[in-house]
Amino acid sequence: MSAFGMARMFAREVLGRSQQPRGATPAALLGVDGIIAAMEDGGASDGRTAAGYLYHSARISVVIAGSNICADFGCGTGVQLLQVAQLNPAIQFLGIDREPTMLARAKTAAERVGIPNVEWMVDDITRPTVLRERKVDAVISTMTLHNLETATDLMACTSAMASLIGTNGAVYIEDFARLKSPRSIDFFVGLNAPIPYDRFADLYRCSLNAAFTVRELREVATVLSGINVHTTFLVPFLVVIKTADRTLAPTLRARIHAMRDALPTTYKKDLDDLRKFFALGGLANDPFA
Ligand SMILES: C[S@@+](CC[C@H](N)C(=O)[O-])C[C@H]1O[C@@H](n2cnc3c(N)ncnc32)[C@H](O)[C@@H]1O
Repeated sequence: MSAFGMARMFAREVLGRSQQPRGATPAALLGVDGIIAAMEDGGASDGRTAAGYLYHSARISVVIAGSNICADFGCGTGVQLLQVAQLNPAIQFLGIDREPTMLARAKTAAERVGIPNVEWMVDDITRPTVLRERKVDAVISTMTLHNLETATDLMACTSAMASLIGTNGAVYIEDFARLKSPRSIDFFVGLNAPIPYDRFADLYRCSLNAAFTVRELREVATVLSGINVHTTFLVPFLVVIKTADRTLAPTLRARIHAMRDALPTTYKKDLDDLRKFFALGGLANDPFA
């Protein structure tokens, strides 16, 4: 990334006053088939989003350590969930999504790689019915909240999480927060997009436009017990809402380190940038350190 472009983005976001309005959700703009096609272009755990997936899989593993049953709110095609489930074979996972076509993709991928500890469920994460009947002691959700239609749905979603896990459960939520300037969105989309843009870059742009503000995310997080809200340094472009870290088994820590070591150089640098921006934002206890 160019240092000059980065400095200009920081200046715009830190000094800018007005907040651009929220855009349409990915489903409204691209449709479910469009999202699936975009994920095929760029949303794989060994593709250009590898750093993000590995960073959050590692952090999720620390937060949910020792849990029995963990629900993933909005698992989509299961990219994040399958990596987490593979790293944590002793935990049973429930992948929840309202779109059967997404779940069918996820299920096929799980069968192809041989991941037995995930059950897939069609449900609405803002007003779950099937899930409500299950006992769950951990909840995760990655890159999903910006897909919710309204701020009321956002509040309904975190309230559903809270009533599902009660006061002692583990929570790890991550999502984008809305940038102030459309030019900052251009900057982030351009960081690792191919030329010409592919469908994943379009999905990325649409997701950044649809993000809720940090203030909205902080507000809905208040219904969850024992959480802290963390953002990337200076520009709250990414937000993590999580309960306290637990103890990561040394074998799992070693495995996570080995996965970082095995990343191609550019993706390793992306991962280290992400670690740095969250650490500078105050998120301690880096599992890659
Ligand atoms: C970007 S995808 C999530 C990707 C996945 N968590 C990952 O990180 O690999 C967002 C998902 O949220 C789902 N979704 C949106 N609103 C929902 C709702 N109200 N109930 C259930 N799923 C919903 C969409 O169908 C979509 O699959």
